[in-house]
Amino acid sequence: MNRLSRITFVVLATSVFAIGITIFLKPGFRTLAQGQSGNRQWMDKTLPPDRRADLVLQEMTLDEKIALLHGNGMPGWPRVVPSANPSLGNGGAGFVLGVPRLGIPIIQMSDAAYGVRSSAENGRYSTALPSNVASAASWDAQAACAYGTLIGRELRAQGYNMTLGGGVNITREPRNGRTFEYMGEDPILAGTLVGNRMKCEQAQHVIGDIKHYALNDQESGRNEVNVIISKRAMRESDLLAFQIGIQIADPAAVMCSYNAVNGDYACENKYLLTDVLKKDWNFKGFVVSDWAGTHSTEKASAAGLDHEEPMDDFYGEKFKQAVQSGKISTAELDDHVHRILRSEFASGIVDDPVKKSVVDVEGGLEISRHIAEQSTVLLKNDQGILPLDRAKLRTIAVIGPNADTGMISGGGSAQVDPPGRGAPEWKEHVWFPTSPLKAIAAKAPGATVEFDSGADRASAAALAKKSDVAIVFVYQWTSEDFDLPSFSLPENQDALIEQVAAANSHTIVVLETGSAATMPWLNQVAGVLEAWYAGSKGAVAVANILFGDVNPSAKLPMTFPRSEADLPHPKLLTPPPEERRGGRREAKTTFEVHYDEGLKVGYKWYDAENKPVLFPFGYGLSYTTFSYSGLKVTAGSEMTVSFTVKNSGSRAGAEIAEVYTALPASAGEPPKRLVGWNKVHLNAGESKEVTISVKPLYLSVYDEGSDGWKLLPGSYTFMVGGSSQSLPLVEKIDLK
Ligand code: BGC
Repeated sequence: MNRLSRITFVVLATSVFAIGITIFLKPGFRTLAQGQSGNRQWMDKTLPPDRRADLVLQEMTLDEKIALLHGNGMPGWPRVVPSANPSLGNGGAGFVLGVPRLGIPIIQMSDAAYGVRSSAENGRYSTALPSNVASAASWDAQAACAYGTLIGRELRAQGYNMTLGGGVNITREPRNGRTFEYMGEDPILAGTLVGNRMKCEQAQHVIGDIKHYALNDQESGRNEVNVIISKRAMRESDLLAFQIGIQIADPAAVMCSYNAVNGDYACENKYLLTDVLKKDWNFKGFVVSDWAGTHSTEKASAAGLDHEEPMDDFYGEKFKQAVQSGKISTAELDDHVHRILRSEFASGIVDDPVKKSVVDVEGGLEISRHIAEQSTVLLKNDQGILPLDRAKLRTIAVIGPNADTGMISGGGSAQVDPPGRGAPEWKEHVWFPTSPLKAIAAKAPGATVEFDSGADRASAAALAKKSDVAIVFVYQWTSEDFDLPSFSLPENQDALIEQVAAANSHTIVVLETGSAATMPWLNQVAGVLEAWYAGSKGAVAVANILFGDVNPSAKLPMTFPRSEADLPHPKLLTPPPEERRGGRREAKTTFEVHYDEGLKVGYKWYDAENKPVLFPFGYGLSYTTFSYSGLKVTAGSEMTVSFTVKNSGSRAGAEIAEVYTALPASAGEPPKRLVGWNKVHLNAGESKEVTISVKPLYLSVYDEGSDGWKLLPGSYTFMVGGSSQSLPLVEKIDLK
């Protein structure tokens, strides 16, 4: 190369380099280099989800947008969307076509209340966790997180990228057949736990969901009931649970419910969907209808429903026509689509596409057992009958329906399929193969352990009579699609317990229920454990507690009333007779339920009405004892409550310390509300100082006049202790 050519080469090379650098530094090119996304800028992981959604949106055709607004049928649904290929589904409750040419994946949805649904028909396996109300009895945000993490992992392993879990309708009507799917009667407890569960579930890169928004508090006539309630009552109770859950989890989706609220169906209720959820709470995700809970196109769209499941009855062709004729604006359409796309980016399902894998069976069982141990509530323990002393027991009677083979689980769309058998029928009673008999026998190898189903009460009593101790496992099955007629145990189980207890005063009852139970035999038995629907490893967890390998720490997240007569609505309202409705699901409401008790949900009702209860909210025993002292309450941007808890007994244990507040009289509130709690682990004799910050929202009232929350001036009484009816520490503080 001569000198001139050398100079020309250097100049050219430098210019190419400089141009290259300039291009590289331009935003678009930088995106390309960092995100490795070709010309798909929305694939740049460093951009905010909203920006990414906007970038895709501007590339999409009208048909592609409409396809995101609806599901495409589900297995067993009478019809499918003709244009969709059913083989694209993953066997779950619904699927939404993606936009393959733009890299937007199919959304594969599965129910996953206490584990992933539909394993049997798909040839898969899922862990059953304890039911949701059980997990609420742990009062433990970390346990809630472990719960969500496990479900998120198993969803992805099975090829799903959206959960339909996250039920948080508070227990306003405890006969509700879905009480086991929810988190109890207190909005702050329920909201905190569902929020932590869903935050961790979504962190596994699935689209999170919280449901059923809102006031779907009974199953009877759920598609035709019009719930009448004041704004203040709903904001401070049912809606507050959602508000807190959504604040914590930032879920990508919220499912609107079947019922109507104050005249409009929840899935076309502007107050619920737009004014409260999207505006006031600033919810950025999308609203998905409960299955066939959509009733209109234009009204629902204007009210804030973003997505119809499981079909396209209102959000398919009809929606397209409404856009084309100008009845629905492009801006409104784009808002729905934007919310769905941003949720896909925000949850990580685009950047981390689902890859099927083998479920970690052993890992799941360990987590399930551990959560069950934290969720089982010791309700009665006379003269320290528990924990059982395996060194002394020679003979143990295990009595109760199926107590040799399994424990009952909650039904409906929450149902997790047990291993080793085919898919259950809808509303079939499903017993999980976790055997109380085997688990108890394993704990007491030196004892003779015998079983009686209790079908013949005399034979069960005879076995109890010749045994050192009788452990009776009784159940109350509940499910979506029906409500409990009463809290009495079915199949004459009350009579069974009475007869066994008459034969042996060392009788312990283990309840497997989804809601409260009445206990006419309570004074005759020595011990009672509430195990709820205890999941895949329930029997081992119960045995660990019975024999003291685990010290119980759970507390009731709902009141157990003495009888239905003490409920705000002693008689459950049901729809008019089938004949009058032509026996079909109405697209209009046929009856009203007036929630006149308003703010008085659960313990707030019994407190206000001075009604004694069987077991109060927040109640649960331990094998050790705790004492409380030294309450200090300090005002600041948040109120700070500190006190000391001491383990005054002789073994290590955990105490859930609860803080309640009575608002100033001018507030017109029920006598007290839960405002905070802390689970304190203490060795025998150990003390710890506990400090709890109370958010101003938790002390506020909802003012209908100004449509906002108000912290009222006046005297606030803080009460601290181990249950809503055992609050030894009391301090008053004035707020200006
Ligand atoms: C239930 C929902 C569930 C959906 C899909 C409905 O019947 O109310 O909770 O997610 O079905 O299975």
